[in-house]
Amino acid sequence: MSQSSSNRFYLTTPIYYVNARPHLGHAYSTIVCDAIARRKRALGIETWFLTGTDEHGQKIERSAEKAGRTPQEFADAIYSEFRGLWTQLGITNDDFIRTTEPRHIRGVQKLFATLRERGYIYKGSYTGQYCVSDEAYVDGPAGTLCPDCGRVTETVSEENYFFKLSAFEDKLLKFYDENPNFMGPESTRREVISFVRSGLKDLSISRTSFKWGIPVPGDEKHVVYVWLDALVNYMTALGYGSENVQDQENFKKFWPADLHLIGKEISRFHCVYWPAFLMAAGLPTPRAIRANGWLMFDQSKMSKSKGNIVRAETVCAVLGDEALRYYLMREIPFGQDGNFSFDALVQRYNADLANGYGNLVSRVVNMMHKFFAGVVPAPGAPTEAEIKLKASTEAAIAAFGPAFDAFDFAEALKALWSLVAETDGYLTANAPWKKPQDRSEEDHAALQARVLATAAEAIRVITALVYPILPTAAAKVWRQLGQGELAEAAQQAFLTKVAWGGLKPGTRFEEPAPLFPRAEKDAVERMVALEEENNRTAVEAAQAQKEEKKLEENKPATPETAAPAASTTPDQKSAAPQVPDQKPAVPQAPEGQPAAPQVLPEGFPAAEPQITIDDVVKIDLRVAQILVAERIPKADKLLRLEVDLGYEKRQILAGIAQYYEPEKLIGRKIVIVANLAPRKMRGLESNGMLLAASLENSSPVLAGFLEEVPLGARLK
Ligand code: MSP
Repeated sequence: MSQSSSNRFYLTTPIYYVNARPHLGHAYSTIVCDAIARRKRALGIETWFLTGTDEHGQKIERSAEKAGRTPQEFADAIYSEFRGLWTQLGITNDDFIRTTEPRHIRGVQKLFATLRERGYIYKGSYTGQYCVSDEAYVDGPAGTLCPDCGRVTETVSEENYFFKLSAFEDKLLKFYDENPNFMGPESTRREVISFVRSGLKDLSISRTSFKWGIPVPGDEKHVVYVWLDALVNYMTALGYGSENVQDQENFKKFWPADLHLIGKEISRFHCVYWPAFLMAAGLPTPRAIRANGWLMFDQSKMSKSKGNIVRAETVCAVLGDEALRYYLMREIPFGQDGNFSFDALVQRYNADLANGYGNLVSRVVNMMHKFFAGVVPAPGAPTEAEIKLKASTEAAIAAFGPAFDAFDFAEALKALWSLVAETDGYLTANAPWKKPQDRSEEDHAALQARVLATAAEAIRVITALVYPILPTAAAKVWRQLGQGELAEAAQQAFLTKVAWGGLKPGTRFEEPAPLFPRAEKDAVERMVALEEENNRTAVEAAQAQKEEKKLEENKPATPETAAPAASTTPDQKSAAPQVPDQKPAVPQAPEGQPAAPQVLPEGFPAAEPQITIDDVVKIDLRVAQILVAERIPKADKLLRLEVDLGYEKRQILAGIAQYYEPEKLIGRKIVIVANLAPRKMRGLESNGMLLAASLENSSPVLAGFLEEVPLGARLK
């Protein structure tokens, strides 16, 4: 791990988008950073650890809109979830930056102005593809899929500010060459170098088609491209852009960063754009960037859009707050993708924490109380067994640090846990709890003293080394071993002094306290059930929000709701984006008619106009069952249906009276557009629209299913 010469270390996590609640994928990067920060501090290095949230951009604007909230309200809610989770997971960040904070906005505008003054920004126009999900420009014709996430890109055509990235091709290649430690792992390094070698085009760094961003200084119709905005957080949090002398000092003290820890999919932004921006601004570049792999679940990257997330809170609820820290760092070789599995998690928890380290500590601390009234005896002369355990402990000390500092956390923990197993074996082989008949009382007491003092010393070393990964458990054990407060020891750089022989005879142990209770047989089921429950509540909450929004929208216009934008307060104005008028996502059926797909020639007609996946997901298609179907007086085309969606019942008016006998429809499962705004027809409200195939020369045919499907199931 590269380290600043000044005995200071500044490290950062990526800042997390607030379009979705935190999940294990986010927790992973943050936990790794926290463990590094804790180790650095306990090595006496002045450490600054930053994390935060990335709150601007089209993606957030759209997510907020979908939820019927302003982007700021939306960001506030998710931001609180991130903060709460980091507290629960024991994350010791020194600062938390939000990109909507004034200190950040001011810094981004300063960097933009600096780049412009130095001649690296010009105005041009961009027509091309954009992936809103990754907030990234993508090469290729209309309809190109994003190479990172596979989603369909959108065509944007805008007047933009451009950054002269092309001027940095050679400079960056030279920089990578001169700083072989700058980026890693090797796969990331190779990928980035090949990307730069294939040629760099100038980069569009502003957008005009939406509002939720930082205004370009002097040209406020543009907002700064979200990646330029986001990357600068690493400096604005330190004080870059501030007029305050203390902030400026702080910036000088910690910049450049010693480590940006990132996910592998955002390497290009960090390893190419970021150093180029900094070089252009005449600022020092970060010392190291390391990319973690993806946490996979059910064979694909855990992410909200794939619907395969697991929340850290679920694991904490069943296995305590630290199991996850250990599991993620032990199980996943850093830099590679790793599979998350509840079974593997519980297995590892029981084997390594409950039956392994936890049980070892409990045996030794209990015996120390039972046989020596909790006071460490003098061990006496070592036999071969103690000499061997001492050698193994010293080998573990020698192996742990370098592996950890090379980001090989799994290897570091493996070395430590082989010492746990060896200490356990040593204890069992010497069985201090059992006196054989042919051993004198005196010899047995000597053996007990030797074995318990030696095993306790090995535990002390294990505990010190594992502290960055299991801080709370380690602090508990430290106390039980009569070593006092580990947090205080960490402030006194105790990790620089980890060596065999630190446990002094006469030390008084504290009472044993449980560490890692064995996970019950149903631990996996409980976690699965918690996730299911959470998903269900999330669907219900989203539904409730939509309902609320619908009601709001249908409220008769009052003077406030009808007021033009100009009468909103400045705050509201900046929080509420101006969204371009939404076109209906599907061709609108004439009143009272089922949706009528275009009648097209035989074969495979092209759907026009093309829509993106973002448009598709806006349509909430659901399975519903018809409970009531009846004709409406004086309306020969319309049927009044009452349908059951599982989570609610509602009324729909459908223009199928000429084609279907109402009685025959009862009990039938159909597909409805559940989020269509309510409309009134013949004085009755219709809350949705059913789907049917519209045929040129015959009656429409209702969409349905051959297999059993639960009511309310979403079609996607
Ligand atoms: N906001 C940008 C980062 C800007 S940094 C200047 C962003 N945000 S994100 O919320 O989409 O992702 C942030 C980080 O979360 C990723 O880089 C990655 O480290 C982590 N992960 C999210 N899902 C993940 C997995 N399934 N597995 C591992 N980490 C992943 O990108």
